[in-house]
Formats: sequence, structure tokens, C-alpha cells
Amino acid sequence: MRDAEPKAIHLSDYRPPAWLVDKVDLDFSLHPSQTRVTSKLSLRRNPAGALGAPVVLDGDGLTLVRLAIDGKPMAGPSFEATPDRLTLAHPPADAFVLEIETLVDPTANTQLMGLYRTSSNYCTQCEPEGFRRITYYPDRPDVLSVFTTRVEADEAESPVLLGNGNLVESGKVDGTSRHYAVWHDPWPKPSYLFALVGGRLAKISDSFLTRSGREVELGIYVEHGKEARAGYAMDALKRSMRWDEEAFGREYDLDVFNIVAVSDFNMGAMENKGLNVFNDKYVLATPETATDADYSGIEGVIAHEYFHNWTGNRITCRDWFQLCLKEGLTVFRDQEFSSDERSRPVKRIADVRALKAAQFTEDQGPLAHPVRPETYREINNFYTATVYEKGAEVVRMLKTLLGEAGFRAGMDLYFERHDGEAATIEDFVASFADATGRDLSQFALWYAQSGTPVLTVSGAWDAEAGTYRLDVAQEVPPTPGQPTKKPMLIPLALGLVGPDGRDQPLALGNVPVENGVVEVSEARQSFLFTGLDARPVPSLNRGFSAPVNLVSDLTEADRVFLAAHDADPFNRFDAIQRIALEMLKTGARTGSLPATEALVTAARAILADTTLDAAFKAQALALPGEGEVARELAKDVDPDAVFAARKTLRLAMGTALEGAFATTYSAMAATGPFSPDASSAGRRALRNLSLDFLAVTGSAEGIARAKAQFEAADNMTDRITALAVLTQHEVPEREAALQAFYDRFERDALVIDKWFTLQAQIAAPGTLDRIKDLMLHPAFSLGNPNRVRSLVGAFAATNPTQFNRADGAGHEFVTDVVLTLDGKNPQVAARLLASFKTFRQLEPVRRASAERALRKVAETPGLSPDVADIATRALG
Ligand code: PHE
Ligand code: ZN
Repeated sequence: MRDAEPKAIHLSDYRPPAWLVDKVDLDFSLHPSQTRVTSKLSLRRNPAGALGAPVVLDGDGLTLVRLAIDGKPMAGPSFEATPDRLTLAHPPADAFVLEIETLVDPTANTQLMGLYRTSSNYCTQCEPEGFRRITYYPDRPDVLSVFTTRVEADEAESPVLLGNGNLVESGKVDGTSRHYAVWHDPWPKPSYLFALVGGRLAKISDSFLTRSGREVELGIYVEHGKEARAGYAMDALKRSMRWDEEAFGREYDLDVFNIVAVSDFNMGAMENKGLNVFNDKYVLATPETATDADYSGIEGVIAHEYFHNWTGNRITCRDWFQLCLKEGLTVFRDQEFSSDERSRPVKRIADVRALKAAQFTEDQGPLAHPVRPETYREINNFYTATVYEKGAEVVRMLKTLLGEAGFRAGMDLYFERHDGEAATIEDFVASFADATGRDLSQFALWYAQSGTPVLTVSGAWDAEAGTYRLDVAQEVPPTPGQPTKKPMLIPLALGLVGPDGRDQPLALGNVPVENGVVEVSEARQSFLFTGLDARPVPSLNRGFSAPVNLVSDLTEADRVFLAAHDADPFNRFDAIQRIALEMLKTGARTGSLPATEALVTAARAILADTTLDAAFKAQALALPGEGEVARELAKDVDPDAVFAARKTLRLAMGTALEGAFATTYSAMAATGPFSPDASSAGRRALRNLSLDFLAVTGSAEGIARAKAQFEAADNMTDRITALAVLTQHEVPEREAALQAFYDRFERDALVIDKWFTLQAQIAAPGTLDRIKDLMLHPAFSLGNPNRVRSLVGAFAATNPTQFNRADGAGHEFVTDVVLTLDGKNPQVAARLLASFKTFRQLEPVRRASAERALRKVAETPGLSPDVADIATRALG
């Protein structure tokens, strides 16, 4: 364990490393509890580093066995070794080879950082600071080195031995039951990209021919018996490789690319050079076990990790403050890939929904931080929606501002200038500025200022002049450490929709507006659009061109009009959502829901519109979630009132549109065998949305339809949605179906995760007791992150009424789990605690209960730095 009270680290304190590592030779002798790690570091004093500095290597809980310099054993006072640091106060020369032997215990490693065991295989996780749990090393991303790794293990226990780069040698260790493999990675990399895997694994193989004609061997390693489940992941990998060549001109650079799927993993997946390690969840899929969301998740994460090979690995980060340099950019790239593979508008809608749910809430609460933070105590806690999702939005805005060609020129320059380097956000932004000649200094505020800008917009129509004036005011709310803000550069895509539903010409002072984007750069600004022959309805922030909260003077009638006619599909979606949202806010505040006719009319029109695809309709008609309503209310939120308003609206829509939903339910029935493609998935989504609305009253007919679908389903999407519908009703069919589902999928961990989640999401007072019982279920384990997330994480993040019970029992339960888990896996514990990030928006009684629970955590002695950091910042 590291220092209990870690010091704050500041971006402004960055100094280049004093010592560099030109190459490193690693030798692992794998053993369940005593793995011997020998590391030979070719150290060289950095001419750009601090003069005469000692060699200081990072460690974390290490046991040193032996140390040698240039082959000669070292003793006593010539060095100082603690579990967390190795110091050579007087290095013997400006370049020498330091040999270090450490012993580590992978079986005892429950943090899942460093070298650990999962399903009795060996695997590693090093980002961000896990390598120091394996050996002493300058464990920072700006020290790039060429790694050669020899792995040795008992051949029966670990027939498969994998490392970064290309395999150069393998064989048996004479006279023993052991064997070895040597892997060499020619591309210099930081230690966080190191990986090794050893174990009993099955392989599915394929190959990929790069556009320059090199053959790459592809392998996906899974538990024996699961080979058939990796096909979709392999297909997604090959499509990703091709896409990166076509869209960004990026080719793969090794002879092999391996992926290993493991059951115990703190995150989704990891981009280690040539050896990605994945959470099972993002590799394994069959129609019977995986939902459409799982399939698209696999496609997206496979692409994401692959794309890191250029954005993250070939060009890495100078320090962890620059995390968004690789993450935001790579999320943008995987979003673009999925858009190209599927439906662009539907992908955009899904991404914006996720952005608002995760990032806007983060930006609005005590854990808000800039896309590039300037200070941290625990870097593990900065793998956030802000760094990832808002980071991607910033790259997207850059593309919107510079246009397709300008953006590509900037990316090309970035690759050309910084290949093989550890770069910064300044380097990235400069590439675009230099490639296009644009001053991007104001734009760069997106990296530095936290908080979601509020854009307040109103319009004035002058019939005589044929002009429409748009008055825009921007304001970035105060956030922790940033009381005042400067105006941002906001690309606002818009259209002026005429009475016939068509876009009118967009011109400022008779000059056409390029790409339909105006740039808002001042606190208050007016845009005068000319040459109009009728009062337009403005369609603002088309495609969600900027991640802002938009406040406009549009009326409900304007929105009904846009929902039916807007040429921008995102804004058709947004218009209907906004109608629903305003109603839900009023309903939650006053206890009575406004008239529903307008929404019903808009929904009916969308359902009937044959030009729209099913996936779009499903997104447009899915009401805003409880979390979004709460976020919009922003203060004194009573989650029960939000739930009640939403339920009333669901009932009203379900009743008013019963006929339309019944027709849709039949029309969207499958026409052939299961396929995970986007259009089939869209039909299922719309059918299942209809099922949900048809059952909303809990009528015998609705429940029977859900039960029938549950029993007859030939795929997980249909089965689990039917089950979800049943679980939200207090009916006898519920427990029977839950039991049947469990019996059917008992041996399938990923499916049992879904079973836990559904029960954690039931919005009823009995849920907390149910969860406490489920924690004693033989299938539950605090040691497996997926399990913790599926039950306790899902409860805290997606069951607002029960997590925020007025009696405080939900808060207390989650913090108790956090404290128990902290001793095992601080990273997962800290993430769970971060679900308190919205507690300040609650009404006083619930807010006080959340605060009490957080205080109890904060005052507990011996907390990990991860949990201590979240508790402190949340209480702020
Ligand atoms: N770098 C990984 C990704 O986003 C995420 C990750 C971070 C995984 C830390 C493990 C540990 O692709
Ligand atoms: Zn990533």
C-alpha cells in the first residue's frame, strides 16, 4: 500500500526524467505465490534532466532480493530500498546496467494491478502505475524503452506464454517441467504499456493483410470452451484495422496482434502494445448470451484499444495530466468508427445520451475537473467521463471548426511530428494550429476550464427586413477550484427551418455560413441572419456540435414542429426529448404532470414516419431517464417525485399510443435468423420499447406478452428486456422468470451479471434487502469487479429511488460495501464511492444522509488513497 495521505501532484511541477532507460531485459519466472522478476535496466543520465540527480526508481509493495551494477553485486549503503522506492544516491557512472531481482505474489494480489491471477492464469495490468508493483522502475510515461521479456512457467500450468511485441524464441527448460518464451517489442514504450500473460487458454486465429502488404497474425485467447464466442470480436478487430488505414492512414506495426480475455479486470480493456488484455465482457458474445448493446460495446472497445496503437502507444502521454491526449482522442476515433459501421445519427444520439448521463453530472458536482486536470492526488480516479467523453467532444469540436480536410491535416502533422514521443495537449493543439494557420488559443480553454457551459439563446424575427437575429449568451458555471471562467470558443451548428419544414438559406450579412456552423466566442453575441422570407424556427446545436447546456426560447409548439421536420436527425430526437423533459421537470416539482397531448402527437408522428429507421425511433421515444431529469432539476431533487412523474408519463403514453405500440410490436418481429447488425438491432430495440409501453399498466395482457416473449426468445436482447419488464412489476411471474433465467444461465458469469443488475434496479422498497441477500448468493463475490459493478454498482448508479432512500439505508449500504471492498480492491471501491457525485442536488434530508455516509468513510482510518481522495473531494 502506498502513502496513506498522498501529496497533491501538480502539472506545473513537471520536470523531465533525470535518468532514461534505453532498453530493459525482463525475466519472469512465474510461480503462484513467488514469482521471481529479474530486470536489467540500461540506465543513462538524461542530458535534459536535473544535474547530478540520484537514480530514484518507483516501487509499490516490493520485496528486493538482489541488486547488481554492471554485473557486480551491490551491498549495504550504496543504495536504499524500501517497498516503495529504490534510491542510488551516488550512481557509479552516467550510463550503466542495473540488475534488480524482486519477488512478487500474484495470488495475493487482489487489487488487480501489477501481476495477478485470474481463473488461475497469470496476467498483468500496469496502467497507470502498476508496473512499480512488479519491479523498481522509473514508472512514468515519458520514459520510453525497448522491452525484451522472457517468461518462464510450468508447462502444464501455463502452456501459453505471451508478451509484448513479436515472439523471438521459445522452448523447454532442460531437465524440468518448465518452458519459456521470449518476446521482443522493437517500439520504445513506457512501462504502463507492458504486459504478460501465462496460462491455459484457447486461441482463435486469423490474419490481416495491411495495405502495404504485411501479414499480421491475429490471436484472441479465451478460456477453453469459449472459442466460439470470440468470433464477433475478431471480426470487429479486422474491421478496425482496415478502418484506421482508410480513415486516418494508420497501419499496424508488428507481426502479431494478440488479445486475451480475462474474467477479473478493473476496467473494460487495456491497450498494451501488441497484447491487449480485455475484460471478458468486451470479447465474448453469442446471440443467446449477449445483447445488442453488448455487441456494439464489443465492437467499440475492440476498436478503441486497437486505435490506441497510434493514439497512445506510438505517441504516448508526457505525464498523466495529459491522459485525455490518448483517451479523448481514441474515444473520438472509436465513435467515428462505429458511426461509419452503423448509423451515424443513432450513434451520435447514444453517445450524447451517455455523455449527459455520466459527464454532465460529473461536471455539475463536486468531482468536476478539467479535461486536462492540473492537480491530482490519485491518478486512478481520473479515468473519468470528463477525460474520456468530454475529451472526445473536444476533438469533435476541433473537427467541426477546422472541417474535414483541416482536421485530417492536423492529425497527419501530429503523427508526423510526435511519432515515438511522449506528447502534451499543447503539442496536439499546435499541430492543428500549424496545419491550418488558425489561432486555437481560445479553443484550448476546453482543456483547462471545467464545467458545462450554459448557452442561452433567443431569437428575434423582423418580417420587414427578412432577418432573424439570434442573441447568444454564454456562461460557464463555477466548479471546484475555478470560481470564474473566460468565454469559450463554441462551434454552434444550426439551421433555420422554414414553415414548410425545409432549411432556409443560412447567411450572415448576406454571406453564406459555411457548413452551417457559427462560432460563439464572446460572453454575449448576436448573429443577424439575412435573406429570409418567413419566420424560421431555429434548430440549434445540430448534431450536438458543442457539449453545452442549451437554454432557448423555443416553445413547445416549435419543438413539436422540429420533432416532425428538422433536417438534422439529432435535433428531431432532441426536440421530442426536450418536450418530455420539460413535462417531467414540472411533474417532479409540482406533483402534477402537464398536458401530454403535444408529446403524444409528436411520438405518434415519429412512430408512423416511414423515412425513419427503427433504431432512431427507439431512441426518440425512450423517455429521458430519472438521472437526466434530476440533473436538469439541479437542486432539491426528490428521486421519488421524479420516478412518479416519469411513471405517470409512461402510463399516459402507453395508454394513448397503445394501438400504435401494438402494431409496432408485431411489425418489428424478427423476419429471419438472429443477426447482430445495426438494422436488426434497431428493430429489436423498437419492438422492445413497444413491449415496455404495452406492459406499463401492469395489465394481464401486457404481462402475458412479456412472459411469452421471455420464454420464446432466441436471443439475449429479447429475453432480458422481457425479463426487465417483468421485474418492474410486482407480479408472481417476476420471481418465476428470475429463477428460470438463473437456472438457464447459471454457468455463464456474464449473463449472471445481468441477472444481478436487473434485481438491483427494481424501484421498490424491498430492493435493498434483496441486494443484501444476493450478496450472500454463492454466485456473488467481492473479488470480481464485474460482479461488484453488476450488483452494487448498478444499484448506486441506476436505481435513484432506492439508493437515495429517505431513511438513508441505501447510502449506508453502499458506503459499507466501499469500506469492505477498499481493503481488497481500492480502485473498484473508489469508483463505487464516486456514485455519490450527484448527492448535492438532492433535497435536504437525502443530501444530509449522503453526507453522513461520506463522512463516515472519510473518517475511517487506513483508507486507500483512492477512496480517501474521492471521499475528500466529494465532501469538498
Ligand atoms: N487505457 C484503458 C483504455 O481506456 C483503460 C484502463 C485504464 C484500463 C487503467 C486499465 C487500467 O483503453
Ligand atoms: Zn482508452
